[in-house]
Amino acid sequence: MAARVLRLYPGPPEEVVLTGLCLADALHTLGSASAPFVYASFVGSLDGRIALQDGEASRLPVEITSENDFRLFLELQAQADCLVTHGGYLRDLAAGRLDDVLQIGTRAVDRDLARWRQENGLSAQPAVVIASASLDFPMPQSVIREKQRVLIATGRQAPRDRVDALRARGFPVIVAGDGASVEGGPLVRQLGNLGFRSVYLLTGPRMLSTMLRDGMLSRLYLTIAHRVVGGESFHTMATGPRLEGAGRLRLSSLYYDVTTPDGAGQWFARFEPLRPA
Ligand SMILES: NC(=O)c1ccc[n+]([C@@H]2O[C@H](COP(=O)([O-])OP(=O)(O)OC[C@H]3O[C@@H](n4cnc5c(N)ncnc54)[C@H](OP(=O)(O)O)[C@@H]3O)[C@@H](O)[C@H]2O)c1
Repeated sequence: MAARVLRLYPGPPEEVVLTGLCLADALHTLGSASAPFVYASFVGSLDGRIALQDGEASRLPVEITSENDFRLFLELQAQADCLVTHGGYLRDLAAGRLDDVLQIGTRAVDRDLARWRQENGLSAQPAVVIASASLDFPMPQSVIREKQRVLIATGRQAPRDRVDALRARGFPVIVAGDGASVEGGPLVRQLGNLGFRSVYLLTGPRMLSTMLRDGMLSRLYLTIAHRVVGGESFHTMATGPRLEGAGRLRLSSLYYDVTTPDGAGQWFARFEPLRPA
């Protein structure tokens, strides 16, 4: 039977089918060249964990993942003409710590989304932007196999020899920031100039923080699994200096999945950052 969730906000509460929930947001229609629509998603626990540190590596706690959340993740991905990933993810991928989620429509559960992209005028696969300060990452085979457009984003202080080596291999390198890291404002402006209108951040705390700080995030999707995970060493959604006013977000929708993960339930929340008053 098709999974169903309860819409709690805006009210009145109503039971709806999960499939199509995020596609209904039509994110691919909301941006423009001057203001690309930039969105991010996270799954976290009630105690705010998005990953647990495991020695040198960190991992998503399996107990906060679910098929229902993954379906919504794929629907968000399907609406992107550009995915922003980063050096950390590509290193985790190469080490087998994370699954490859750089393509859409390649699994039995998301074949319909390949069709959806075609029907909605999007390219077969989104372009991939790799943000990295070190520029020390392996290029994933999947993006080469699928002939995805790949760009690298880095800061002005990035190692010059690595910038040159990437350019020599045919990868355009965008310089977006005066330090070593990529900054939200310069990155989004340049992605807009390149014609990208819907930009999905498949990144982590550092990128979310710079996007919020620079007022560049259009929307945050947050799944809160109803579990307390604990653990001594962990990551939360943001890092770096306090965000102050840039950290204010307003809830625009809230769905309650009563059954997953593992009978505990979860909320699917959607937030819009508030612009400075
Ligand atoms: N539960 C969730 O929804 C969720 C979502 C995202 C991440 N996570 C997990 O949370 C943990 C920490 O996340 P993370 O790995 O994304 O940590 P992070 O510290 O935000 O980023 C890790 C690496 O990505 C590159 N990077 C990120 N932002 C950058 C920027 N603005 N400019 C230049 N490079 C940048 C850097 O790579 P270089 O060293 O190459 O410069 C950095 O070392 C991981 O285990 C991750 O899997 C969970």
